[in-house]
Formats: sequence, C-alpha cells, structure tokens
Amino acid sequence: MSSSVLSTTAPFRAAARQKYFPLAIRAYSGVAASRLHPSHSKQVTPVAYAYVSKRSISSTQQNRTEEYFPSPETPGVKEVQAWAHPVYTVEQMRNVAVAHRDARNWSDKVALGTMRVFRWGMDFVTGYKHPRPEAKHPERFNLTPKQWMNRFIFLESVAGVPGMVGGMLRHLHSLRRMKRDNGWIETLLEEAFNERMHLLTFLKMAEPGWLMRLMVLGAQGVFFNGFFLSYLISPRICHRFVGYLEEEAVITYSRVIKDMENGQLPEWDNLEAPDIAVRYWKMPEGNRKMKDLILYIRADEAKHREVNHTLGNLDQKGDPNPYMTEYKDPTKDHPTEGIENLRATGWERDEIFFKPQEQK
Ligand SMILES: [Fe+2]
Ligand SMILES: [Fe+2]
Repeated sequence: MSSSVLSTTAPFRAAARQKYFPLAIRAYSGVAASRLHPSHSKQVTPVAYAYVSKRSISSTQQNRTEEYFPSPETPGVKEVQAWAHPVYTVEQMRNVAVAHRDARNWSDKVALGTMRVFRWGMDFVTGYKHPRPEAKHPERFNLTPKQWMNRFIFLESVAGVPGMVGGMLRHLHSLRRMKRDNGWIETLLEEAFNERMHLLTFLKMAEPGWLMRLMVLGAQGVFFNGFFLSYLISPRICHRFVGYLEEEAVITYSRVIKDMENGQLPEWDNLEAPDIAVRYWKMPEGNRKMKDLILYIRADEAKHREVNHTLGNLDQKGDPNPYMTEYKDPTKDHPTEGIENLRATGWERDEIFFKPQEQK
C-alpha cells in the first residue's frame, strides 16, 4: 500500500503509542492542497505537503493524514454561506468573566446536580483535573496541547446536541399543534451550528483517533436520547442545565487562556487560527492566533450561558424569544445577538418584558 494512503491500522498503532490510550488523536496537516488518491475513495494529503505543517498536534505519522474539509471544488462555487456570526470586539471578549447563577428552586437544583454529574463524567473520559486553589503542586494539573485538544473535540461534539434537539422539538411542536414558535427555533439551531463550528475549527488542528471517535459516537447516542426525553418533560430544566454547562465551558476556556498567558502552552504561542475560523468569526488581521481563537470561542460560550439561563427564566410556551425580538423602547437595554449587553447569569423575565406602566 502506498505510504500516502490512510491505513485502517494506523489509528490502532498510533493509539498504542499514546499516554492517554483511549484519547489518541492524529495530526491534521493544515495544508489546503489535497488530491484524490487513485486507489482510495477518500481525499488524502500528499506526503510532500505533510512535512511543512505548522500544526503542533501530532501523534501519528505525518504522511497518514486525511483532509477533513477540502475546499469546495464545485465549478463556479467560491464559498458556502451559513449563519453569519456577530462581530465581537477584543474589549468585549476580554470582559467575559467566569460566573455562576445560584440555584433558586428545586428545578434549578436538578439542573445543577445533573450538570455536575455530567461534568464529572466528561472530566473522567478526557483525563482532565481542575486544580483546587489549595493544591500544593498545581503544575501537575497542567494539560499538554494534545490533551487540551482532545478535551475540546470531545466537549464540542457533545455541545452541539442541545440546541439541535431543542430547536427540532419546538419545530415539531409548532407543526403538530399548528402554532407559532415565536422565534426560539432560530436561536437554538444557530447555537447548535455555532458549537459545530467550534468542533470543525478544532478538527482543522487535530484529528481524533478511532477510540475518540467511538467515545463521541457513544456519548452522542446517550446524550441525544437523554436530552430529547428530558426536553419533552421539562424544557425549562434543560435550558438551565445548558446554562450551567456553559458556565463550566467558560471556566475551561478561561483556564486555557490563563495557561497560555503564563507561558505553559508555548506550542500555541505562534499557532495561526485556521482559515475556517478567520472567516467565520471575521477575525481582524493581527488577531488571528490561537489565543485570539480561544477568546472568540469563550465569548460564544458566555453567550450560550446567557441565552440558556435567560430562556430558562421564561414561560416556555407563551414568551417570544428575546433574542429575535424588536422592542418598542430601543433606548432600554435588551438582550441582543452579540455580546455588547452580555449578562453572565441571564436576563430575568421582568427585565425583558416589562409592563407598559413601568416604561419611565
Ligand atoms: Fe463550544
Ligand atoms: Fe457552548
């Protein structure tokens, strides 16, 4: 077999060499040029290009990499457009902070407790330990770029599920009950799309091995069905659960940013964000490094945190989606699609839909 063909046994051999056996990932060359190998139906990256890779994640022979998302080659097609991402400023992203919304009633407690069990499971399978403040050797908790990338890929593959399930169920509800949805579907589907863009971006920098793919498959099967049933029973608890989950995502990405600023991830100091990310977030020139990318992604997670806590505060059947609403009083602060009015713990219902006599 030619050395440039993706071997079916390569992932097994690569995984066996890893410290984290079940989480082996393989390198993506980062080179757009690819060709269709005559003896293989998949597009593979030529050997000559693989060695000029600037990607630092590598756990497999460089010449056994696969082009995940080759540039569109349909005649006449320049770009495939999808949801446009709102523009974030550097200052807005820097202002994103870790936050927690206290559980105020039994349903909040159910959501928080479930999220903590969920987080424990995620940490366990991705080999992640968060350092306690009193830890004597916090450096032992440091993750390598490869371990971080494993965690990102696994988490983002799961994070894209809730928005799609919520949007799908509300869509079906609208169809069968012949009622309007009042704009919730769009925001939920866009959230799922945004999470998938996080995943696709990371997949441009690291390619998961067979066991990681298996874990993603299993996690999706369990989580999709669990969330589907839960959303049928209580959409409010589900939005609160996602709000709490997004609080954890902000914590995780904040830790990555801190580690990078402390010089603990020197491999990423000069790593460029992939083109897919530059185009999606409209990253300005001079702000297209790995750290900038993580700042964008953290800001997205903070937005999901706000959106889901806010949706969890609303009447699930009657209230319009405050993120798709044109307000009578534009001078008053309202929820927006961007992060200019970001509320870390969400908007209260009374703040959004105030009564006419309160307009003073
Ligand atoms: Fe995400
Ligand atoms: Fe998120």
